[in-house]
Amino acid sequence: MAEVKLVGVWKKFGDFAAVKDMNLEVKDGEFMILLGPSGCGKTTTLRMISGLEEPTLGKIYIGEKLVADPENGVFIPPKDRDIAMVFQSYALYPHMTVYDNIAFPLKLRKLPKQEINQRVKEVAELLGLTELLKRKPRELSGGQRQRVALGRAIVRKPRVFLMDEPLSNLDAKLRVRMRAELKKLQKQLGVTTIYVTHDQVEAMTMGDRIAVISHGILQQVGTPEEVYDNPKNTFVAGFIGSPPMNFMDATITEEGFADFGEFRLKLLPDQIGVLRNEGLIGKEVVFGIRPEDIYDAMFAQVKVPGENMTRAVVDIIENLGSEKIVHLRVGNMTFLGAFRSESKVQEGHEIDVVFDMNKAHIFDKTSGKAVF
Ligand SMILES: Nc1ncnc2c1ncn2[C@@H]1O[C@H](COP(=O)(O)OP(=O)(O)O)[C@@H](O)[C@H]1O
Ligand SMILES: [Mg+2]
Repeated sequence: MAEVKLVGVWKKFGDFAAVKDMNLEVKDGEFMILLGPSGCGKTTTLRMISGLEEPTLGKIYIGEKLVADPENGVFIPPKDRDIAMVFQSYALYPHMTVYDNIAFPLKLRKLPKQEINQRVKEVAELLGLTELLKRKPRELSGGQRQRVALGRAIVRKPRVFLMDEPLSNLDAKLRVRMRAELKKLQKQLGVTTIYVTHDQVEAMTMGDRIAVISHGILQQVGTPEEVYDNPKNTFVAGFIGSPPMNFMDATITEEGFADFGEFRLKLLPDQIGVLRNEGLIGKEVVFGIRPEDIYDAMFAQVKVPGENMTRAVVDIIENLGSEKIVHLRVGNMTFLGAFRSESKVQEGHEIDVVFDMNKAHIFDKTSGKAVF
């Protein structure tokens, strides 16, 4: 039984459809990420789940309960949906102490003082805020304030957490730490969480599953491994992973090569079989390979000249310390390789590069759909 379920959900603003036919099931206790570029409809989707926005069409369930179904006049307001939200701008009450900020939602519900006290203390302990309970928000760091905002959401013990880019106002270092803390906390609490971000690293590191969205359309739902290893189309392939996957126009030859004009790469027997079944022999396709699957030949295990290897010019090297992002060129074709830091490549020099053909992807040239 899904904890949150969207069935054929649309949201239109005038003529513009911000969310199109969204179908999504979030499991009980799951950490689900809604990932996509700015303007793709993430916040709108979250606001419809929360009840801050009414869908134009479709059904939304929280648990067994139908909370939105415009066709049948069903709309349950946010306060009756048993959800808690955390936003990017975590408006704390500046005149209240940390204690009172966290206690606020419980006071609204008129819980007994004793219980409020106990719950606030538990949450403060969990979030490492015990020493700060008497402080006002202005006496806290950004990270501490964000934790108070989380505390205020957690203290109610909601059925579902909805979080909209809650870490994006924090500096890079703190964001990395909060990422890990939030993930741990979510597992500890076991509360179903839907978390919106445009940051694919955040999505990959935190999510049990990721729902990738583009232009209001759900592209793929899967574990971080699934969306990274088996992207369903060029959008997902290009959005997940940094630097992004290389896309190269190719023709599939009768002998099973991906021919780029400047050079060619031999596909593996299984891959050729699939391409043959799909009627793609002799056709133009998009060949995709991640920078991390292209090697400096000095460090490659399997080198077969004329099959998985080519000579390339090193245009630019971005040294990241742990690895080197190398801009490579063969004739007019350019692509990126992510080489290990030991690689001795030099700008302006020619080197041999090796492609891990096990990691090659082929996409339909017109639809962008993955063949593999
Ligand atoms: N209230 C609104 N009226 C008109 N257009 C809106 C409204 N809210 C959002 N939009 C539009 O819907 C699209 C999706 O917005 P949003 O869900 O906020 O995107 P995201 O959170 O993924 O950045 C955007 O093009 C945005 O301009
Ligand atoms: Mg948004």
